Amino acid sequence: MSNIAVLVSGRGSNLQAIIDSVESGYLQARISVVISDVGDAYALERARKHGIEAVFIDPKNFASKELYEEEILRILREHGALLILLAGYMKIVGKTLLLAFKNRMLNIHPALLPAFPGLHAQKQAFDYGVKVAGCTVHFVDESLDCGPIILQRCVEVREDDTADTLAARILEQEHKIYPEAVRLFVENRLRIEGRKVRIIR
Ligand code: GRF
Repeated sequence: MSNIAVLVSGRGSNLQAIIDSVESGYLQARISVVISDVGDAYALERARKHGIEAVFIDPKNFASKELYEEEILRILREHGALLILLAGYMKIVGKTLLLAFKNRMLNIHPALLPAFPGLHAQKQAFDYGVKVAGCTVHFVDESLDCGPIILQRCVEVREDDTADTLAARILEQEHKIYPEAVRLFVENRLRIEGRKVRIIR
């Protein structure tokens, strides 16, 4: 059984999708710990409601990013985590975590990467005038939102969309493809070959 750790900063709807997938049996894994860098993140509450250990680590208590991430690592090890999921985690991951979890860290991004990396991706796409938006699950590496892509899903932009209605429809798809991608990882069906991720069917 794979032990998963989820890093969050906010409302945690993607965390909820992962929790639901574990509870329904779709994902044969265990969420061993949820870690937030924000004390009042609703994601922490979601975890606790499901009996999952939820930890707030205040970055302000650490003199450097390295020390902060070493504390995260200590907790991950304590919980036997083998895979990290970033789910609305707002900090840029540093070398310490990247090295320790190389090819074992996934992220969900609300745009069709490599278009619109960074913050407010749905609004970036909407303002740009794209006709097709979407979301991406990818491996995390030292680049910002540019690691090898595991799954993507398209969402058509409607004439009457606002950035918010578009973001809401993208979010629905995020909640589908994140559990799908995690399942592929847990079932050991992903092979990273350079920039590409081959999926073993
Ligand atoms: C999602 O849109 C995700 O793609 C992005 O941050 C948002 C987090 O939302 N990385 P939630 O906390 O999972 O509800």
